[in-house]
Amino acid sequence: MSPSAANAHAPMPGAEGLAEPLRSRWSPSVFDDRHRLGADELAELLHAAQWSPSAGNTQPWAFFVAERGNATHRVVVEHLSRGNSGWVPRASVVLVAAVQVEPDAEGNGGGDATLYDLGQAAAHVTLQARAMGLHAHQFAGFDTDAVHAALGVPAHYRVLTGIAIGVRGSHDEVDERTSAREDRVRVRKPLESFVFDGVWGTPWTAPGADRPAGSAEGAAP
Ligand SMILES: Cc1cc2nc3c(=O)[nH]c(=O)nc-3n(C[C@H](O)[C@H](O)[C@H](O)COP(=O)(O)O)c2cc1C
Repeated sequence: MSPSAANAHAPMPGAEGLAEPLRSRWSPSVFDDRHRLGADELAELLHAAQWSPSAGNTQPWAFFVAERGNATHRVVVEHLSRGNSGWVPRASVVLVAAVQVEPDAEGNGGGDATLYDLGQAAAHVTLQARAMGLHAHQFAGFDTDAVHAALGVPAHYRVLTGIAIGVRGSHDEVDERTSAREDRVRVRKPLESFVFDGVWGTPWTAPGADRPAGSAEGAAP
């Protein structure tokens, strides 16, 4: 079996105990360019963002729905980085994510937490997608200023990312580069490198354990 065929659920060593859909979430790059999402499915994905938490319940995010082939999609595709131009256009939809970064005309919003809030809303969308049998792959590699201008986004918002969503396609239908991209080895830093106990740099140790708890290195897709 090829790595790609075996890759329906990319392994995540150290994360076997995670709940679904966390455990089976990953970011594929080979989407089926015939698949379309229904209006209800799109609404469910957007409700996931709507109901994510935010600082002070300010909900500072905004999304454009760029369905494959529509005018917004053409804007996104036109401004993709070279590395993303092979795979993003095949996804069923791209949600273009923007966030309020400056106060509005009344002086409201735009505080430090807004980027955090948008990231969290995006995470909710990716997990909702997985729960619906879909896959999501976020990306920042595009000309966000050009998309900002083309879509008439107000100056106090910033276009930040796209979330490509769809179902997995066949490796036979994509170029070698896109196919290889999906087969990249997934790696993670070990917990001891970023979870600390008392003093920065001192690895946290799980109670009762004689060594740092868990790592997640070298997860092959
Ligand atoms: C904010 C953000 C920006 C990203 N930008 C890109 C991108 O431009 N191109 C790309 O192929 N993947 C992009 N990714 C996907 C990451 O590379 C991917 O999530 C990471 O390698 C971990 O892999 P996994 O999602 O399969 O666990 C981005 C992810 C995030 C959250």
